[in-house]
Amino acid sequence: MRTVLLTGSAGFIGARTADFLLKKGFRVVGVDNLNSYYDPALKTFRLKELKKNRAFKFYKADIENLQPLRNIFKAAKPDAVINLAARAGVRYSLVDPFVYLRTNTLGTLNLLELCKEREVKKFVLASTSSLYASETMPFKETFAVNTPLSPYAATKKGAEALCYAYYHLYGIDTTIFRYFTVYGPAGRPDMSYFIFMQKIDQGQTIPVYGDGNHLRDFTFVDDIATGTVLGLKKVGYQTFNLGGNQCYRLIEMIRLIEKVMGKKARIKFYPAHKADLRATKADAGQAKRVLGWTAKIGLLEGLQKTADWYRANRQWVNKLHPLQA
Ligand SMILES: NC(=O)c1ccc[n+]([C@@H]2O[C@H](COP(=O)([O-])OP(=O)(O)OC[C@H]3O[C@@H](n4cnc5c(N)ncnc54)[C@H](O)[C@@H]3O)[C@@H](O)[C@H]2O)c1
Repeated sequence: MRTVLLTGSAGFIGARTADFLLKKGFRVVGVDNLNSYYDPALKTFRLKELKKNRAFKFYKADIENLQPLRNIFKAAKPDAVINLAARAGVRYSLVDPFVYLRTNTLGTLNLLELCKEREVKKFVLASTSSLYASETMPFKETFAVNTPLSPYAATKKGAEALCYAYYHLYGIDTTIFRYFTVYGPAGRPDMSYFIFMQKIDQGQTIPVYGDGNHLRDFTFVDDIATGTVLGLKKVGYQTFNLGGNQCYRLIEMIRLIEKVMGKKARIKFYPAHKADLRATKADAGQAKRVLGWTAKIGLLEGLQKTADWYRANRQWVNKLHPLQA
């Protein structure tokens, strides 16, 4: 397998995955619509390095639109598709649920249809730990996940279901990944660790929704990218949790950020958000057994790498436009 069509390639996880695929000798055809949910300057920054590699080709395109995608499939002749393009913020999915449905569910359907049409035999989908609301921890892939708490989670469940149907009907080998709270350099400015790091550095008060005791299974982006590449293996139809195997309370994560930034946080607490899960913890045993994957980078080490990147780039990062959400 040589050519991978990777959607969301200008995104946080997508750009890192593209980099890892290129290092493994794959040709990567990147697709991204560079939308402005957060400042596209960050997406352009991530793409700049990738574009230096001749094995990387980029198309600015929207997975919601079938015909332009069809032309890309024809030109690229991919052996596999990794679909990381998505509307990924939980809270903004309450503001504009329609765009989540169009990108996360219809976009996935478009890609599956083209895999059928062009006889692409392998599909990888990024899904989410947000599906595990109301379940007991640690979360296992076999749980029913019938109670999504947000339009975001619901649209990912729809995407997963479509993948199963296409596997069943057309034999498209499919790997579903449920990622657990991914963090790292050049990350998403809507995620709490990014906001906290920036505000702590600038001496601003940080907003914490809830009492700070929310538990999260934090996973470093390099571990996620490594796992995603391993997902190209033939598996039939399988779902894997990719979780860092280290749960921290939000307040503990803030203490670690203070440590790597060498500054104290000022915190203001707000009521918990209804769409947020109280706690997440992955059982990542299946990924270990089938793909040989385990998370390698601990939270302190990962936050240190993130802080190093932030400090090296803070001049322009602090000028990014505020979030749309
Ligand atoms: N970051 C996390 O903690 C996390 C956790 C669970 C799941 N995920 C999933 O991982 C994937 C990547 O997330 P991320 O954190 O890198 O987010 P991201 O927003 O940085 O990346 C997503 C990319 O997709 C692109 N995109 C969005 N809609 C598109 C469309 N219609 N057509 C083409 N491109 C489009 C965006 O421009 C962006 O560059 C997503 O599917 C997300 O749902 C992320």
